[in-house]
Amino acid sequence: MNPFVDKIAIVTGGASGIGQALAVGLGQGGALVIVADMNRKGAQQVAATITAKGGRAHAVYVNVSKSAQVEHLIHDSAKKYGGLHYLFNNAGIAVMGEVLDMKRAHWQHTLDVNLWGVIHGTAAAYPVMVEQGFGHIINIASAAGLVPVPLLTAYTATKHAVVGLSLALRVEAAERGVKVSVVCPGIIRTNIPNVATYLKVKREVALSQLPSIRTMDPDKCARVILRSVAHNKGIIKVTPFAYIISWLYRIHPALMNPWYRKALKEFQILKSKS
Ligand code: NAI
Repeated sequence: MNPFVDKIAIVTGGASGIGQALAVGLGQGGALVIVADMNRKGAQQVAATITAKGGRAHAVYVNVSKSAQVEHLIHDSAKKYGGLHYLFNNAGIAVMGEVLDMKRAHWQHTLDVNLWGVIHGTAAAYPVMVEQGFGHIINIASAAGLVPVPLLTAYTATKHAVVGLSLALRVEAAERGVKVSVVCPGIIRTNIPNVATYLKVKREVALSQLPSIRTMDPDKCARVILRSVAHNKGIIKVTPFAYIISWLYRIHPALMNPWYRKALKEFQILKSKS
């Protein structure tokens, strides 16, 4: 039997990419899915796709960087539907460029969404789950949560924090009957590069030079995540790329240096073309 049947699941950032694929996968698995996103229309479309396939879903507006909105989303959903089994803290953004070109607002926005968004979700859902005696929080970090990625420094900072937060809480939460997992996908074909902020590089120039590493389709990514969640895996690495770079960095960080140097050099070329 599918482990998600009749479960209540919230997916933040559910209007696009990995969140959308997770929401659809959960809906197909029989869960009641709350598709939460600041893209109201996108969330409604995803909820409609799920219901059109015979599943159950509701779209809810949320800006994860606002604690009151996240608290309301979680408490209201748990009350309305009689509990909360899964919270996927997935909403995220990226700012790409050199730290020298970053303004305070870039740091703030990245931390507000990628880190505070996860903290707000976790802080609101964890007590509800402890009270119930069950529940699973799944935080979407990144391979950049395991391995530093230059030119995505603020992103790297938030994703390392999300990995640390998740793994520390996983130990605490197990004592209270609650599960916590963290996902480090690798590169997935989503909208994130199209909506990212680029510093001193034109978006179209950056997009024309995306890394040639093999990317994964979000549906496949969601299938791997949901299967691993069902097995309560702690760190969920999705793509071979995520396995390889985290392994290389772990055995000897300097093994990453040629890749880093290449990325920095290519970025300077992009800057000169912009
Ligand atoms: P995406 O851009 O396709 O989807 C992100 C969704 O989050 C969008 O629907 C957007 O409206 C929503 N969102 C952004 N800010 C929000 C806010 N403040 N409140 C509520 N919703 C907000 O991106 P993707 O790739 O699906 O990203 C999902 C997560 O996966 C992010 O946390 C990202 O960092 C992570 N990730 C993505 C990878 C990739 O290669 N695509 C790789 C590793 C991690």
